[in-house]
Amino acid sequence: MSAGIGTAEDVAAEAARRRTFAVISHPDAGKSTLTEALALHAQAIEQAGAVHGKAGRRGVRSDWMDMERSRGISITSSVLRFEFGDALLNLLDTPGHADFSEDTYRVLAAVDGAIMLLDSAKGLEAQTLKLFDVCRHRGIPVITFVNKWDRPGREPLELLDEVEQRIGLHPAPLNWPVGIAGDFRGLIDRADGAYTRFRRTPGGATRAVAERVPADQAAAEEGQAWATANEELALLEEIGAVLDIDAFAAGTCTPVLFGAALPNFGVSALLETVRRLAPAPSARTDAAGHARPVTAPFSGQVFKVQAGMDRAHRDRLAFIRVCSGRFERGATLTHAPTGRPLATKYAQTVFGRDRSTLDAAYPGDVIGLPNASGLTVGDTLYTKTPVTFPPIPAFAPEHFMVTRVKDNSRAKQFRRGIDQLDSEGVVQVLRSDLRGDQAPVLAAVGPLQFDVFTARMADEFGAPVELSRLDYTTARITDKESAETLDGRRGIEVLTRTLDGSYIAVFVDKWRVRAIEREYPDLTLTPMLAAG
Ligand code: G4P
Repeated sequence: MSAGIGTAEDVAAEAARRRTFAVISHPDAGKSTLTEALALHAQAIEQAGAVHGKAGRRGVRSDWMDMERSRGISITSSVLRFEFGDALLNLLDTPGHADFSEDTYRVLAAVDGAIMLLDSAKGLEAQTLKLFDVCRHRGIPVITFVNKWDRPGREPLELLDEVEQRIGLHPAPLNWPVGIAGDFRGLIDRADGAYTRFRRTPGGATRAVAERVPADQAAAEEGQAWATANEELALLEEIGAVLDIDAFAAGTCTPVLFGAALPNFGVSALLETVRRLAPAPSARTDAAGHARPVTAPFSGQVFKVQAGMDRAHRDRLAFIRVCSGRFERGATLTHAPTGRPLATKYAQTVFGRDRSTLDAAYPGDVIGLPNASGLTVGDTLYTKTPVTFPPIPAFAPEHFMVTRVKDNSRAKQFRRGIDQLDSEGVVQVLRSDLRGDQAPVLAAVGPLQFDVFTARMADEFGAPVELSRLDYTTARITDKESAETLDGRRGIEVLTRTLDGSYIAVFVDKWRVRAIEREYPDLTLTPMLAAG
């Protein structure tokens, strides 16, 4: 590259080669396996399993990670970063368990594209659908990977049909499987007709053997499977199932690839597709509606705050997605909500569970800032020209608990813990004058969030808590005026969200919401982004 470091040309070129994306899937579809396989292909790690292997997770860094391990779920998220050809890929890991979907949603605020991973036997599943809704809402283009083709599953045409019918995405297969799910022979690349036959490798821990086979040889050797695949390919041509790049960028068309992550079938084609098609970082619209180009001075947004990753250091790591400019470690950033300066001497990259010092970052990269107290999910940071990005939407909580400290002498620690866990988004904290500061209401998308809250209050803050369930199931954003009409009615309560001061009306059921809407059509009752 001829451009000097940090110049607009340098930033534009670095941004253009970055692909920042996440995998969305239902638990068990193979996200951890695919992540390993992607990293393996990109040669970021030597042996699959080193980063995400469920059995051999390294580095026990805190007690509440024990909870994560014992339940076999991934609570924390991290970033996997690797070069692939001339591209630099940032794969943002997302927690897999349904209860942590709120975290997953936040990660989707930091990516430019997503891989929708489907199990070939199950197709679209509940959590995939929810996460896809978030992608649609945020306009994130989606590449579909149909996984586990080495196992018995459904017909490929039937799976495409499901994608089209249920989520209205026009599917455009880039490759086509020879052999039905469970009797996988290889893949035909639709662009050039090339056939790649795959052979299993023991345990799937190393690259699969991919063998190019000429068409006439394949026709002779694969027999009926070859003929069927070619008939289906002809049908795809006939119905016009081809990729429309503009429609993909607009989120109405999805390139589809078939494969199997475990034995590494078709993973390199997926990587190549991410490199070629996934969008590079582009100008981001700020809260005032102005686009901030990637070449503008540095700006970034906090999309996640994670504490307890390293208990020995009482660690609190803020994850920041770079939106524009070049970040250099040591630079002083401005914290948009307060105007305060923020030093970045200890900026880090986060690779799996390991971290290393980060010296520079470009649009699309993720910076980890340790001990960044005062940073909250959604906050904007910038240098030189001020900017504020729109907040990351909070998702509609469906579970509500009142919490109290068990031992009143720990009231101070209780308050500190609540503030901290609220700003991290572990739970949403709601308050009212009536309930007082000693008994705030906690709201969550999934009940497991309360377990994390309870464990961390005891372990990290020395303030064991008790929780009691409230019967509410539905929340709406309201305003002060409407709050006066609503508050005190049976089955309804109005609380204030601590983080942003907004009024939240909670209801025991959806019928109550409908009844109120009928009775008072002028009230403000805005639904929150649905998580379910
Ligand atoms: P997740 O992160 O989406 O929850 O899924 P994960 O990768 O843990 O995969 C879920 C199960 O599916 C695992 O088996 C994994 O080995 C298997 N799997 C993933 N991709 C493929 C594939 O392409 N082909 C086949 N045949 N299996 C696949 P498990 O027995 O539940 O766990 P494990 O003991 O193997 O870790």
